[in-house]
Amino acid sequence: MISPPPCSWREQDLLSWALEGSVPGEAGSATTGPVDLIHSSFAVHHLSDEQKGQFLSGARSRVAPDGMLLWADVFRDPGEIRDSYLQRYVQRIRKGWTSIPAEEGQRVIDHLSQFDFPADAAAVDSTAEACGWAWQWLWRGQHRAEALARLTPL
Ligand SMILES: C[S@@+](CC[C@H](N)C(=O)[O-])C[C@H]1O[C@@H](n2cnc3c(N)ncnc32)[C@H](O)[C@@H]1O
Repeated sequence: MISPPPCSWREQDLLSWALEGSVPGEAGSATTGPVDLIHSSFAVHHLSDEQKGQFLSGARSRVAPDGMLLWADVFRDPGEIRDSYLQRYVQRIRKGWTSIPAEEGQRVIDHLSQFDFPADAAAVDSTAEACGWAWQWLWRGQHRAEALARLTPL
């Protein structure tokens, strides 16, 4: 029988986790050692661009040499400014999310207008590369927003 890989759950700020105990140039942290798989789902877009860079750098210092970061999130089109991204996302909700009440849709609009800062899909791979990651898109959704990338140590 195959035994499950070691796994532990923690609830905390993802940026603090990435920076916690990381030592530039060394894999892992003093507390946990290297991590095989880092997965983030639709959370990193809540960080500023500067914080995204810090997250990528910290996560890179914590991942095992043969590990990976699976990053599912929303991203802006190449060169698209945040306002344009928000406008088309709001249109998408107003026109397409017809099965939920309008006030629920408005709640989502209010949330993303205040808290969503998706990375530029064309620039983020260079930021990742500068932090020591090789970037590969695994999937990009039809709405030019949701996507999944696999990052592996360079
Ligand atoms: C759009 S929800 C995604 C929830 C879930 N991960 C999923 O994929 O369905 C965004 C989540 O990011 C979390 N989040 C935002 N900023 C965070 C941070 N700095 N550290 C950890 N989680 C954060 C929020 O608490 C929220 O649960």
